[in-house]
Amino acid sequence: MNLIFLGAPGAGKGTLAARLSKEYGIPQISTGDIFRAAVKQGSELGRKVQGIMEKGELVPDSLTVELVEERLAQADAQNGYILDGFPRTIAQADALASFQKIDMAINFNTSDEVVIRRLSGRRVCRSCGAIYHVENMPPKFEGKCDKCGGELYTRDDDTIESIKNRLRVYKDQTEPLIEYYRGKGLLRDIDSSTSPEESFSQIKSLLLVGFFGLGE
Ligand code: AP5
Ligand code: MG
Repeated sequence: MNLIFLGAPGAGKGTLAARLSKEYGIPQISTGDIFRAAVKQGSELGRKVQGIMEKGELVPDSLTVELVEERLAQADAQNGYILDGFPRTIAQADALASFQKIDMAINFNTSDEVVIRRLSGRRVCRSCGAIYHVENMPPKFEGKCDKCGGELYTRDDDTIESIKNRLRVYKDQTEPLIEYYRGKGLLRDIDSSTSPEESFSQIKSLLLVGFFGLGE
């Protein structure tokens, strides 16, 4: 199954993609994670995207599309994948359609208030990338990852100015993809303002209906 997770920053795409990837054995492909890894390594790509990401702007389409095309050609993506944070513009969606067949785009619905609260309390593991929230999903020991013991940090783009800009950019450039995929009959909606468990069960129901013809 070739899936897209669509939704505002902080809607919970990364949290749910990690769970689904573990349960279904298909890779989570997050363009944001790929760019952050490049910044951490200090590679040429990392140097190009660092400032853009901190401000909450979008990395140019050509760079992003090339990277995703290469990633999707790898062996682990041949039996399905979850695209988390890609596509984010109509141009990216058109490019994707020229080299991949998408089965479903799941739209994470939530409000600005919820995402601002979620992003202001988010902490991420520097070593394994696991996602926490100081109130909603706190680690067992403050500042330490439950999974690998790594240090938890606040993303450079989780400042209030960058969050507001990311929301603006989302509305201008990414939200039109909802109608784009609805028009192709591929869009499915979930209410992602609920708990991760509830959001996860909504996604599993969609997949059961869409891929296995079960229930409604
Ligand atoms: P990216 O890394 O994709 O960031 P984003 O879209 O802003 O989304 P987030 O990762 O912030 O949110 P999320 O929906 O994954 O939420 P999460 O699960 O972490 O992109 C970063 C940057 O890279 C972009 O700004 C851009 O510069 C660049 N970029 C990336 N892709 C690009 C592209 N295609 N084109 C161009 N540029 C690109 O959850 C958030 C918090 O809420 C966490 O603390 C979590 O614990 C908590 N939480 C999650 N779900 C729940 C729940 N159900 N209940 C309670 N709390 C919850
Ligand atoms: Mg994410």
